[in-house]
Amino acid sequence: MRYYYAEHQAAYQRLEREGLTQWNDLFDEDRTDDFEAFPNRPFLERVLPDLPPSADVLEYGCGTGAAACFLAARGFHVDAIDLIPEAITLARRFARERGVQVDFSVQDVCAMPPGTKQYDVVLDSYCLQSIVTDADRSSLFTAVRDRLKPTGRYILSTAVYDPDRVYEEDFRYDAGTGICYQKTSTPAPDAVHLDNTWHLPHRRHLHPEALRAELADNGLQVTFQSGGDVVARLGYQAR
Ligand SMILES: C[S@@+](CC[C@H](N)C(=O)[O-])C[C@H]1O[C@@H](n2cnc3c(N)ncnc32)[C@H](O)[C@@H]1O
Repeated sequence: MRYYYAEHQAAYQRLEREGLTQWNDLFDEDRTDDFEAFPNRPFLERVLPDLPPSADVLEYGCGTGAAACFLAARGFHVDAIDLIPEAITLARRFARERGVQVDFSVQDVCAMPPGTKQYDVVLDSYCLQSIVTDADRSSLFTAVRDRLKPTGRYILSTAVYDPDRVYEEDFRYDAGTGICYQKTSTPAPDAVHLDNTWHLPHRRHLHPEALRAELADNGLQVTFQSGGDVVARLGYQAR
């Protein structure tokens, strides 16, 4: 099982058990108990006027589908994927309850076959920080490039380095790579041995400039950035 599976599956099982509707409601400090108040909504509202009407959108890491439903309710054609079946079951239910049409499916964005469909928008609502290793992020960016129309936009909201963030005891932040590791008791696949202890990759919290450089190295030119809120277009450019 990949390092990004167990945590997310457990989260959606808990979410379902507790009758919550989205990821952020699992955390007291972020909880809104309002499906419409998803975290990147203000950013989406800001970029919406620049998007072609009825654009084709692919969202990966859609969770329970709040952003996907928001876009579908505004006339966009939305396909949305998530790694975790429990998330997609909830997302289908919430879309049905709201009378909006979204094509949801279970897929790992790091293991997507070459795409046949291209989109005006590929959207990430706080998935990228959970995709930690260079190899996995490279696979993800390949999937993004592969699915964007030449005129398309990659709209990304991701957690970035925060000097005030305090990592709890079982976590270890490597400032050189921006990788946050979590202690694990077993040498599971993907685990690395640091200071005589097994750790799993947990998050990647890059400085905003490092994120911008990473996107450029992966053929995605940033046209707007405010911290971890980014719009990028296809294209390589010398830095
Ligand atoms: C922080 S949650 C955000 C969920 C949702 N976008 C939201 O804003 O509520 C990150 C999401 O990314 C999904 N995810 C993690 N790794 C993934 C992968 N490799 N492929 C697809 N989805 C993934 C998780 O299951 C989870 O739903």
